[in-house]
Amino acid sequence: MNIRPKPAEPGRIRYTQVYKYILDRIHRGDWKAHDKLPSVRELAGELQLHRLTVFRAYGLLKEQGYIYVKEKSGYYVSGGRPYTDPAEPEDASNTRSNLTTGGAGGTTFNALARHGTGHLQNTLSEIHQIPAVYSFSQVLIDPNLLPNLFLSDHVKQVFDRYPKLLGTYSSVQGDEELRELLCADMQRKDKLQVSCDELLITTGGQQAIDLLAGVFLRPMDYVLVERPTYSSALDCFRQRGARLLPVEIHRDGYDLDLVEGYMKRHKPRMFYMNPTFHNPTGFIVPASQRKRLVELAERYGCLIVEDDAVHDVYFDAPPPPPLYSYDTEGWVVYLRTFSKYLAPGLRICAVAARAAVMAPLLTAKSLADNGTPLVNQKLFQHCFESERLQQHLEKLRTALQIRRDVMEQALAAGTGWQWYRPQGGLNLWVRLPEGLSSNQLLTEGVRRGLTFVPGTICDPLGEMDDRIRLSFSFKNEAQIREGVHLLVQLADELARGG
Ligand SMILES: Cc1ncc(COP(=O)(O)O)c(C=O)c1O
Repeated sequence: MNIRPKPAEPGRIRYTQVYKYILDRIHRGDWKAHDKLPSVRELAGELQLHRLTVFRAYGLLKEQGYIYVKEKSGYYVSGGRPYTDPAEPEDASNTRSNLTTGGAGGTTFNALARHGTGHLQNTLSEIHQIPAVYSFSQVLIDPNLLPNLFLSDHVKQVFDRYPKLLGTYSSVQGDEELRELLCADMQRKDKLQVSCDELLITTGGQQAIDLLAGVFLRPMDYVLVERPTYSSALDCFRQRGARLLPVEIHRDGYDLDLVEGYMKRHKPRMFYMNPTFHNPTGFIVPASQRKRLVELAERYGCLIVEDDAVHDVYFDAPPPPPLYSYDTEGWVVYLRTFSKYLAPGLRICAVAARAAVMAPLLTAKSLADNGTPLVNQKLFQHCFESERLQQHLEKLRTALQIRRDVMEQALAAGTGWQWYRPQGGLNLWVRLPEGLSSNQLLTEGVRRGLTFVPGTICDPLGEMDDRIRLSFSFKNEAQIREGVHLLVQLADELARGG
């Protein structure tokens, strides 16, 4: 088994796709009536395409009256041409540009089927489906660490209080009482300026990422992503035909000059980041960089999607304030899933966004499912507001810290293994001994009932085969010791060529 991102397909871009892309951007307001469009050379350079492909796309747009030409000046957006669905027109000759877009980040633009389907994958989910005794791939809390009895007693109380619960829809945006509660909590604990109208409840963090990708990304848009990062987000962006621009994340954050350079040159639509106990590395982007990142987002019109999935899972000190707390202009969307510490089965995530982002997001949510199930929201609300939650969180932090320590001790038995000690979160990001491949190790692991996440799928470039992500949250101490012992043994066998 070699769980890598699917090999880059020879993505041949038809001029009709470029036509659709330009039309989408006109519709989105990137280019308004009578604005000058980039020259053929500029656009071909930006999209990494052959000039002829762009030339033909402009030709078709002109023929259909969407744009016009000014002698010796260039192409301009027309005034009165009504916008219609930018489906690609039939490419009668089926002629294709014979050039591919490498795309920054090694993401070859897939010759997407119409409307961006045909590129569906979720590699992480495939790994999670492999049955394993020692499952270190799941970023999930061991159910034994959750207050299960309390939760089940609670279910009855909630139904007593709301006898018509099963017969009622939630509003699309989410139950108002729950949003009020979460708002007050975010204001009090995290000093976030957020109102009830600025919160949306989604069915887990994954749905929030998917909705944002659907609303804001069009084929060939650039997206800044951390290297490495949460791979299911990468899969969402790839499925939309976006091009990934990887930004390395280090223990002291990002290279902000590089981020600014990318923003200036490529005008990315979005920067998807996980700056707090980052998945998979555990790094924390320092407070000093957070403010600056928001300024850059404002200056270059790039939406920051701040995924704060394990904000409350810290071991010693709470993390710095979210980037969202510095945002005054609406360039940050903030995702706080609760799947990682309370009742993951309920799939509750709060998304904070200002009006301009919230409005299309609400439409997308209504199209996706018309609102997260009310039962889940009410059960969650009553757990969240109980005193028991605070006690649970404190106990959970201690239990997870112990598991982290146990995993580190077990790993220390192997030679040449290196990792960063995270101060929160659920993972260790481990560098393997020289010459060992994470994918080969996973193949052996699966045979012996052990799984983890190979570095290749967390890397937008598909490299990092010398890294693995090990989650210490799902298995108990004894299983962690046994599993890591087995892992080190398998690595030794592979190193000896066995
Ligand atoms: C960084 C990050 N974002 C989002 C998610 C998805 O969260 P949820 O389980 O709430 O869909 C995960 C899950 O592992 C995650 O690690």
